[in-house]
Amino acid sequence: MKPRKIKDKIYWMGFIDWDNRLFDSLIPLPDGTSYNAFLIEGSEKTVLIDTVESNLFFELENQLENVPHLDYVISLHAEQDHSGSLPHILSRYPDAKLITNSKAKPLLMDLLHLSESSIITVKDGETLSLGDKTLEFIFTPWAHWPETMVAYLKEDKILFSCDFFGSHIATTDLYVTDEAQVYEAAKRYYAEIMMPFKNIIKKDIEKIAAYDIDIIAPSHGPLYPNPSFIIDAYREWVSGPLKNTVVIPYVSMHGSTKSLVDYFVAALVERGVNVQQFNLPVTDIGKLAIYLVDAATIVIGTPTVLAGPHPDAVYAAYLANALQPKAKNLSIIGSYGWGGKTVEILAGLIPNLKVEIIDPVLIKGLPTETDFKAIENLADAIALKHKELGLL
Ligand code: FEO
Repeated sequence: MKPRKIKDKIYWMGFIDWDNRLFDSLIPLPDGTSYNAFLIEGSEKTVLIDTVESNLFFELENQLENVPHLDYVISLHAEQDHSGSLPHILSRYPDAKLITNSKAKPLLMDLLHLSESSIITVKDGETLSLGDKTLEFIFTPWAHWPETMVAYLKEDKILFSCDFFGSHIATTDLYVTDEAQVYEAAKRYYAEIMMPFKNIIKKDIEKIAAYDIDIIAPSHGPLYPNPSFIIDAYREWVSGPLKNTVVIPYVSMHGSTKSLVDYFVAALVERGVNVQQFNLPVTDIGKLAIYLVDAATIVIGTPTVLAGPHPDAVYAAYLANALQPKAKNLSIIGSYGWGGKTVEILAGLIPNLKVEIIDPVLIKGLPTETDFKAIENLADAIALKHKELGLL
């Protein structure tokens, strides 16, 4: 694909990745993704902002066909999906200087074996004149690495935000046209990589919101011609109210845990509590992450296998602990044949969660009437917690 004009002398470049279905060998990409780079031709200096994965450089190289000289290449973030082609760029443009910050510099040198002599570091708030255009660098730590920063093009009011506000969508839309589609994709992206750092990102959002921005240009997904759409969405995800929802990631081997989950879901709904259940062996973990953003309660369902929780339940607990959602309550339901340490092991996997543990319900074999009564009691306890939180 040829470079696409955003404004006079400002172009989108990069790679639209329609086929990739797994990012970082971890994150599902149901809609593919894009790696966006941007070329700015100032009256005196020409600059490229970010690059693409190293193996996708052929596309960026074609797009740079009519760019004989680059003064600078800017690295807003050291992760390789944006920095991977820096060695190719610096080899193609040996006089170009790489601009980044002092936290990114050693990362780039370690990850890509770049030479220190090619790197210039900038400070928070520092500007770079391109002649008739000026870039300001704004540090946005932990969105989502410690070194992440964004760049604001003052004259054109464009914020180049790298991962911040990004969405994994492959599309030929240069700009967001379907806000509902992008809302979900951007929320998924926030949940997967930004959520653990929400308390710092909250400050990053307000730092950015102070600028007069016409367009946000992230490094994944389409550009935002209506910046308040995504800034407000981030505000909601970071610090908005919890929802009257119980997320139930579960796995069942022979049906006992599944029958508990079915009964539990019905009991919660009867009490006015919403539920999102995820059968873990067939779950898109990105979808699970979306619902973890604002659910008030998490209940993990698991059978006991090899004296502990099913490995899929371990994965879900580990993931929730790593993502650090805002949930206030957590419980465990499940079954066993002769014993085990399912509850103790799962409870030990979630030290980062600021949750109250509501009494788990672990049953022997298929559920009995007594077991279903225990599930009713758990549903009562959760409904009460949601009432106390003002959600019900
Ligand atoms: Fe899109 Fe953190 O890289």
